[in-house]
Amino acid sequence: MCGISGVVSAEDVSLKLKDSIRNLEYRGYDSCGIAIVNGAGTVVKKNIGYVNDVAEKEAFSDVSGLTGIAHTRWATHGRVTKPNAHPHSCCEGKIAVVHNGIINNHLKLKKELLQAGHSFISETDSEVVAHIIEDGIKRHGLDLEDAFVSALHKLDGTFAIAMVSGDTPGKIFCGRHESPLIIGVGENENYIGSDFNAFIEFTKNAVVLDDGEYAVVSNESYSVKKIKDGDYISKSITVIEWDKEMAQKGGFPHYMLKEIHEQSDTISNVLEIPEPEIKAIASAMLDADNIYLMGVGTTYYSALVGQYYLASTAGVMAYAVSSDEALEAVPIKKGDYVIAISQSGETYDTLRGLRYAKKNGAKTAAIVNVVGSSMSRLVDSVIMQGTGPEICVVSTKVATAQMATLIRVAIEAGVLSKKITLAKKKELLKHLKSLPKAVSDFLNEHSGFVHSLANRQADYDRWLYLGRGVYYPVALETALKVKEVAYHHAEGMPAGFLKHGTIALIDEKIRSMVFVPPVAEKEIYKLTISAIEEIKARGGTVAAFHSSDSLAKSGLLDDQLQLPKTNPFIAPILMLVAGQLYSYFVATTLGRNVDKPRALAKSVTVA
Ligand code: F6R
Repeated sequence: MCGISGVVSAEDVSLKLKDSIRNLEYRGYDSCGIAIVNGAGTVVKKNIGYVNDVAEKEAFSDVSGLTGIAHTRWATHGRVTKPNAHPHSCCEGKIAVVHNGIINNHLKLKKELLQAGHSFISETDSEVVAHIIEDGIKRHGLDLEDAFVSALHKLDGTFAIAMVSGDTPGKIFCGRHESPLIIGVGENENYIGSDFNAFIEFTKNAVVLDDGEYAVVSNESYSVKKIKDGDYISKSITVIEWDKEMAQKGGFPHYMLKEIHEQSDTISNVLEIPEPEIKAIASAMLDADNIYLMGVGTTYYSALVGQYYLASTAGVMAYAVSSDEALEAVPIKKGDYVIAISQSGETYDTLRGLRYAKKNGAKTAAIVNVVGSSMSRLVDSVIMQGTGPEICVVSTKVATAQMATLIRVAIEAGVLSKKITLAKKKELLKHLKSLPKAVSDFLNEHSGFVHSLANRQADYDRWLYLGRGVYYPVALETALKVKEVAYHHAEGMPAGFLKHGTIALIDEKIRSMVFVPPVAEKEIYKLTISAIEEIKARGGTVAAFHSSDSLAKSGLLDDQLQLPKTNPFIAPILMLVAGQLYSYFVATTLGRNVDKPRALAKSVTVA
């Protein structure tokens, strides 16, 4: 998704500006650009493609200056073309603007500006902003700051906007409404970014802007004011605990593999979350009329895993809700409890669902990874999952940490609801605490087997991914990973659902990947084996993830990954780690760009 950065300094900013947008590449983008203010005015350089390629092609190194803004664009309004890349300029070329979000009334604004004599170069909604500011100065006699603020007033939609002007060197103007924007506070140098990664290698001190705020940032100071009335706002500094090394590959060929391997640590981090924070969520759940766990994409699957654990461990009904459908499908009301689950804390669909929940008077909480994110500040209470930066566009370590958090909540809810005793809680926590080692042992000892399975199966691209019980969301999430990074068609579904229609697809061309529970889960183990038999009886081909010696030898499977035996309480998460690794190896076997798959963005902040 689009990224914004900016640097204002006593020294040349050109190199830092380029580095800052390189640090935003992980968000996913199709074009990029910079605007630098120097003695010659405002110089804009931009094009489609990756930062390094555009920098070379457009000779970023030929331009220097003390103030600059930059952008990575993920197309929403207008095709992927050079004119549509940001920054966008006003008619005279003095004002340059970068924008994240969507301006709903851009056509109306554009019409007015055209009538006033402005001409447009791009098809984007964002370009209007540069012209409105220019119009404010030239036709209405406003100074630059007033023209900037008056432009923000005119916008209907969501935005994080930054602007520089050749007439006012040494200053970046920026403002936000429902799209994140952060100031990085350095020494003799300040920064802006749509997330911390834009400037984390330069400073760890950050000031998070809230909705309806704008800032004027120079190299020595920054001031934050309300867009509404210009009142000054005193903001505190947040110190970011992540560092650049944490966000780098650390010897792995891809971030995805590094992040899969980090899961032993990131699950351990979840085990360090203070118990009162977990208990508070569990207790609010039991007080609620209805409990909704809200996420989208992978976080919806984290929510589904939570639903199964809450049902089985605590006897608590918590509905997993795909946040993009929340408004239409779920009548959330006062007395309900809504827990949003999100890596970025900025996902449009989940924020929309959360705002709807708040508006209807529900109590809200969030399990979030990014400190200072919109969701973390919107909700009544928040659990920071402490997973650290996830750079690969597709989610792995964040998901298992969210699941582990929800498992901890389920255990506490089980005690509070008296479904389990304190002795049982101790036993379950002991199993959960054994998960980090089980994950690292698995990755150390079984990666080769996963790789071989992936090599054997990579050429087949039509799949059903099936699981029963909590192995159903495990199948769904693995299917999503395979779709995202390998571009295979992989349809996830409950293994029991198959015979109610989809079984008609079974032939020699479609393959099934089945996630089989441990033998100790007698009922769902048996039912899953039945599904495999039904597929085989119709001439289908089945590969399976399982931990059963008898199944391994049964001759029923066409291919398999036998996992080490673990306690059934944690086995689903271990199997998901295996599924993530499998999708990684399928994708690398096929030569895919696993860290930045086509069409995907890290943080989906648009509708
Ligand atoms: C898949 C993936 C996405 C995100 C979804 C929600 O690998 O990463 O499906 O899980 O876009 O994003 P967050 O967690 O930032 O709310």
